[in-house]
Amino acid sequence: MRNEMMYRPVVKPELVAFLRNEQKQLSGELGQIEKEANENEVPIIPHETVVFMQFLLGQIKPKQVLEIGTALGFSSSLMAQYVGEDGHVTTIDRFDVMIRKAKKTYKRLGLEDRVTLLEGQAADILPELTGPYDFIFMDSAKSKYIEFLPECLRLLKKGGVLMVDDIFQGGTILDPIEEIPRNRRTIHRKLKRFLDVINSHPDLTTSLVPLGDGIALITKEADEVIIEPAE
Ligand SMILES: C[S@@+](CC[C@H](N)C(=O)[O-])C[C@H]1O[C@@H](n2cnc3c(N)ncnc32)[C@H](O)[C@@H]1O
Repeated sequence: MRNEMMYRPVVKPELVAFLRNEQKQLSGELGQIEKEANENEVPIIPHETVVFMQFLLGQIKPKQVLEIGTALGFSSSLMAQYVGEDGHVTTIDRFDVMIRKAKKTYKRLGLEDRVTLLEGQAADILPELTGPYDFIFMDSAKSKYIEFLPECLRLLKKGGVLMVDDIFQGGTILDPIEEIPRNRRTIHRKLKRFLDVINSHPDLTTSLVPLGDGIALITKEADEVIIEPAE
């Protein structure tokens, strides 16, 4: 018999509001920074993703963390709370306005020793890093996810977790390409290819989570993971 629950949208707007407003809020300065970013519409992870990340990092207890996409330094500051005295967060951003804001954030939170901000294009910086990282958070230009994936997997330790934000394109990722506006087709195709790869690769275990605009959690099951170029 058909299970009707399978055919209903899982995340109703009122449920999103519940996840966002009723789960534990951040206290202190970091909570203030989250509030200010949301008021000023700076794109930071939504609160349901904050809570999820706190839970996840509390379990994983990573020491070395890498982030692609710093913005004003909110999620990197959150992650810095989970790496301990001997851990470190490295984060990458290319946008000078955000870089200035992120530096202020780290100063405000006293995190200057625990976070390193690398300034420039991730495509240039990633090949220079050696890792390994226990946890990588990719939250940058969506069209680049497929291009950055091999570098992220090279830098991730075996058993480590790669978390990727905003993978559903506001839910349009399942729409046929003809229904996607022409100027969004490249990003649509590249994101679809990214999802195909992470969902089918034999050396990756992936779980897609419908929080925010969708999160992918990817674990690396082999020392070396090769991603074949698209035909
Ligand atoms: C969504 S925001 C990051 C939000 C942040 N992770 C948070 O939740 O606090 C994306 C950031 O990625 C940066 N970015 C996008 N593509 C990039 C690239 N190719 N190289 C470096 N930075 C990039 C943008 O400048 C922007 O500040």
